[in-house]
Amino acid sequence: MKRVYFLLAFSTLGMSTYGQKTIDQKVAELLAKMTLEEKVGQMVQYSGFEYATGPQQSNSAAVLEEIKKGKVGSMLNVAGSEETRAFQKLAMQSRLKIPLLFGQDVIHGYRTTFPVNLGQAASWDLGMIEKSERIAATEAAAYGIHWTFAPMVDIARDPRWGRVMEGSGEDTYLGTKIGLARIKGFQGRGLGSLDAVMACAKHFAAYGAAVGGRDYNSVDMSLRQLNETYLPPFKAAAEAGVATFMNSFNDINGIPATANQYIQRDLLKGKWNYKGFVVSDWGSIGEMIPHGYARDANEAAEKAIQGGSDMDMESRVYMAQLPKLVKEGKVDAKLVDDATGRILTRKFEMGLFDDPYRFSNEKRQKEQTDNRENRKFGREFGSKSIVLLKNQGNILPLSKTVKTVALIGPFAKETVANHGFWSIAFKDDNQRIVSQFDGIKNQLDKNSTLMYAKGCNVDDQDKSQFSEAVETAKKADVVIMTLGEGHAMSGEAKSRSNIGFTGVQEDLLKEIAKTGKPIILMVNAGRPLIFNWASDNIPAIMYTWWLGTEAGNSIADVLFGTVNPGGKLPMSFPRTEGQIPVYYNHFNTGRPAKNNTDRNYVSAYIDLDNDPKYPFGYGLSYTDFKYSDMILSSVNLTGNQTLNISVTVSNTGKYDGEEVVQLYIRDLFGKVVRPVKELKGFQKIFIKKGESKKVDFKLTPEELKFFDEDLNFDWESGEFDIMIGTHSQNVQTKRINWVK
Ligand code: NOJ
Repeated sequence: MKRVYFLLAFSTLGMSTYGQKTIDQKVAELLAKMTLEEKVGQMVQYSGFEYATGPQQSNSAAVLEEIKKGKVGSMLNVAGSEETRAFQKLAMQSRLKIPLLFGQDVIHGYRTTFPVNLGQAASWDLGMIEKSERIAATEAAAYGIHWTFAPMVDIARDPRWGRVMEGSGEDTYLGTKIGLARIKGFQGRGLGSLDAVMACAKHFAAYGAAVGGRDYNSVDMSLRQLNETYLPPFKAAAEAGVATFMNSFNDINGIPATANQYIQRDLLKGKWNYKGFVVSDWGSIGEMIPHGYARDANEAAEKAIQGGSDMDMESRVYMAQLPKLVKEGKVDAKLVDDATGRILTRKFEMGLFDDPYRFSNEKRQKEQTDNRENRKFGREFGSKSIVLLKNQGNILPLSKTVKTVALIGPFAKETVANHGFWSIAFKDDNQRIVSQFDGIKNQLDKNSTLMYAKGCNVDDQDKSQFSEAVETAKKADVVIMTLGEGHAMSGEAKSRSNIGFTGVQEDLLKEIAKTGKPIILMVNAGRPLIFNWASDNIPAIMYTWWLGTEAGNSIADVLFGTVNPGGKLPMSFPRTEGQIPVYYNHFNTGRPAKNNTDRNYVSAYIDLDNDPKYPFGYGLSYTDFKYSDMILSSVNLTGNQTLNISVTVSNTGKYDGEEVVQLYIRDLFGKVVRPVKELKGFQKIFIKKGESKKVDFKLTPEELKFFDEDLNFDWESGEFDIMIGTHSQNVQTKRINWVK
């Protein structure tokens, strides 16, 4: 025993005398050896040459030479064990042998793709979301990737903006929870694990509030609104240890985010004490010139570094300008040291100085190339993301023995489309993706017949295939129509001014409806679409987003009732584009509309209801849920007490099912006006048919806090409405009084 203590003491002594330097010490030592150019080199990121995710300025030979000279810190869009190894070898020829970081947009899965992110958000299933990112990280890391440019935690209230597809919708509370789940999934057991990638909270900040929903457009809003609605997911990400941040293309109140000292220096690196690094968005440093914020590249570089941008993604401005700016004394060398230090820290944490090739491993890549378990999970996740919008006459679920089914629409036999936007790892093997036709065919009884007609293309005006589709429908007992927008019509730079079904799809639907056959409509989209005619005339509607590799199977599982749908909308669905932005947590105004008929001198449209077509949090199930009266532990609270809220939910229908129980509050009066409702909690519960479950929530003054006009974050004594329900427009309410 004594000997063990002796050895332990000796080894600890050894460590403190000679051993383990901290990462900070290692970074400081390395910085001391680096030239100014080498430091700035770490702040440079180029894209690989095979495919680009932005307007690339290629000159591949020059980039390769720069890497060898130690003038590049990171590459994006270089993936695969072989390719990353080849690039890393170049970096190992540099004087100080500082390894490259490989970044990639791993947005909704990697080799196995999952529903587009907004679809995932519709699952309200934080565990599944986290697991999907765990899988994405494991697969991506096996392909040599160190860093994903995700999660996108931009709150967005405008479905015209194509990138709503990539986020978690309109709500700050839900968006924050989902962002945290994603970060946990990506970073797993921590940076340095071989199955973890560095996450990146983007786009800092307010990118989702682009005027008119037009991508890259300006953002103009009060700092109160910015802090209350758009920044919380970022703050939470910083606190949770997200490895990096990416800033955004937009200006915020006239200052481009890329050079925005308020958000990047005062808040992120100041008040929030964030120690990771900030990468610019693609070309966003150089874009400060057309913004009209920098006269030339020189000024753009200066303003970007002063504003807190640590790494230049593809503007190619830092290397050309920063060394000169430092030498001229216009930029403090300490800013370069700080940025470089932040980047080197991550490289040490990832273990790249121990082995720069540790993520470039052919064997792991092979194992993760077509992983059956991951696909199995993808199938389940896909089915959990579907939202049932309508089921008149309980037409769903379909019996597997229905004699003849017609599947009609441009998406029926699509494979690649099921990925949606951002699925970079799929260049070659689209046959692995399960089409809707195949998914349905596989589950239909062998004595039943599945017929198919395309009807039309996604977005042209040609109706020549209509008659064949109508004839097919006439022969069927049930028609499944699969319509929507093209998979590349949502995503970056994919804003739309009309967000209906594209081309002649709605005309096709009307023609098929004339046959009088029962129709089930599946809507394929990356955003909320407007489809009023269908909503009002078609008996069953499932919102199927883009569900990923296993799309067809996920859809069939819900169609035939193997899975009872439990998804709920993470965004309000507008009635028309003129109603945008429409979101549930709006202010009341001084003249709130009382109802949808009396529109005189109230805050309403004379030609349109105020409420959305489908509200935030809405989604049906094949079963029915009944809520008991909610019980509050008290209606008069003081100070830091906790309010306990409970409700019993009973499954009174015919199927086992999942329900998302939602808790909202309203602060009735404040020194600034407060929203009519704010989500403050939710629980996704499974209840067997005929059974009940008690659901408990807790509320503390922490959840009552808000930003006042001086940006103080606090709560006030007063009355609050506590609301529980199945969606934002179907709640029961009790009033409480809470005194400080
Ligand atoms: C621009 C996009 O805005 C950003 O989200 C993405 O990560 C980069 N391009 C890299 O592809």
